[in-house]
Order: sequence, then structure tokens, then C-alpha cells
Amino acid sequence: MLLLNASGCLDALAAPEVARQLDGFVTKTITPLPREGNAPPRIAETAHGMLNAIGLANPGRERFLSGHLPRLRELGIPLWVSVGGFCAADYADTCAALDHVEAIELNLSCPNVDEAADSAAEIVAACRRATKLPLYAKLSAAHPDIASVARAVAAAGADGLSLVNTLRGLALDPRTLQPVLARGTGGLSGPSLKPVALAAVHACYAATRLPIVGMGGVTSGQDVLDLVACGASHVAVGTVLFSEPVAPSRIRGELSAVDTDEVMGAAHRAEKSLEFRAKVVA
Ligand SMILES: Cc1cc2nc3c(=O)[nH]c(=O)nc-3n(C[C@H](O)[C@H](O)[C@H](O)COP(=O)(O)O)c2cc1C
Repeated sequence: MLLLNASGCLDALAAPEVARQLDGFVTKTITPLPREGNAPPRIAETAHGMLNAIGLANPGRERFLSGHLPRLRELGIPLWVSVGGFCAADYADTCAALDHVEAIELNLSCPNVDEAADSAAEIVAACRRATKLPLYAKLSAAHPDIASVARAVAAAGADGLSLVNTLRGLALDPRTLQPVLARGTGGLSGPSLKPVALAAVHACYAATRLPIVGMGGVTSGQDVLDLVACGASHVAVGTVLFSEPVAPSRIRGELSAVDTDEVMGAAHRAEKSLEFRAKVVA
């Protein structure tokens, strides 16, 4: 099982010591053209998690390839590149320009991309034609039938899934009763997302058996185990990195006595999970 960061939650060039705790670094989503993102405020803390409306701020494909990627390679950490866009060709062109990276994560769940099964599958199919690198399709749990999207992207050639992205939420300023974020809504992340992530991983593992990077509210070794039991092969930490940059090492320590291979998929096998629980209790 690999422990990764969730895309957009760590700048490995600014904090290489945080990235070095991980088995791989996932970049912020890269779009063909540079994007400044949304106007501030772009982050809001709520009692139930964090809201962000960063808006895919990134240097764009050309500056990423010529400037950021070579510097990231110098860190010596396996690299996963998160790719975004607004049509299938946007994604495929970036995939075609990438080589010598561990994997590509296709951000199919950014607000401006249609999340219908056809559209996600169309993007994956275009990327499949453009690269031989492993392709992970990152989906949103906002889709009413995420398992059908997972099946569609699997049929289109995805090698794995990344689950889940943030869910749209709104926070109001208690004094003005106006939205805190300049854009109005933002993506909810953090511990409140965990049950949503477990359900998505559980459904998509049952539907496809593809390797899954599970994420959403992971803050502890137990959170990792729960995602792995639902079918995640790998796990990513996101929001926790903002408040606790050493979380990956702590979480690894909490898992040191556990064989995650044994837990893999346990939630799909009633007897096995009972056995596992008995061992933990003993
Ligand atoms: C500030 C911030 C920026 C994010 N940027 C991206 C991004 O660029 N691409 C992407 O696929 N997901 C992005 N995400 C979503 C995370 O990768 C992750 O799916 C989500 O936050 C759930 O995990 P968490 O609860 O551990 O944070 C971002 C999340 C946050 C909080």
C-alpha cells in the first residue's frame, strides 16, 4: 500500500521534507493554460470541515513541464501528475507530453467538467490513446451512481481510480449571512468526507476491482485501514497536511503493527472482517 498526498494539498517544492514522508507525490492539477484561480477568500474553515474554491490555480502545462517537473524530479520521489482540462483533447495533449512519471491522475471531478459517465469515459479513452503510463481516473462522489462511472472509465482503459474529490458546500459569515468564499460555494474536505469516501470506494471496488487510491478525511491509521477494507490499494492524505505536516509519518507509525494486505477488501468478506476484528480486539 502506498501513502500519497491528495492533489492540491501539498507543494513538494515548498515543503520537500513533507513530501519525503510519502511513497509518491501527486501534483496539483495541471491544465493546458496557466490559471490564477478564483478571487480570495478561497478557503473557509467550518465546524464540519474545510471549504476550498482555489479554482485549479496552476502554472499551466508548458511552465509545469519546463520548470516545475524537472525540479520535482530532483526530489527523487515517485511522481504522479494530476491532469485537468475542459475537453478530452486538453487532457490527452497533456498525457502525450508526459513521460517518466509513476502515473497520471485524471481529475475528472473539477467543477467545470461534465461528470456524466459518457464524458468521463470519453476523456479516459482519449488519454488511453495518448499514453501508455498508468491512468487513474479521479471521480466525484456527487454523481448519483459512481459505480456506473467507474465501470465506464474502466471499460475506456483506466488502470485505476482515485476516490474521492471534494463535495460542493457553502459557508456563511455569521455576522453578514453572506457566503464566506468569494465564489460562493467551495469543495468540502476533511473528516466529514470520510463516510462518503468509504461508500464510494466500497461501491467502485465491487463494480470494477480496479486498484483504488482512497482519500477523503484521512487523519489516522484507522482511517487508512477502513479505506483499505473497503477496497483501496493505496491511500492519500489531504486536508490533514495543512494542520499537521508530519501526519504521514504519524499515520505510518500507527500502522506499523498491521498487515494492510490482510485487511484489503475485508469489508466485502463478512467472515474475514469478523476474524480481523477479533484479532484487533485480542
Ligand atoms: C486546498 C485544496 C486544493 C485541492 N486541489 C485539488 C486539485 O488541484 N486537484 C484535485 O484533483 N483535487 C484537489 N483537491 C481535492 C483533494 O485532492 C482531495 O480529493 C480532497 O480534499 C479529499 O481529501 P481530504 O479530505 O483528505 O482533503 C484539493 C483539496 C483542497 C483542500
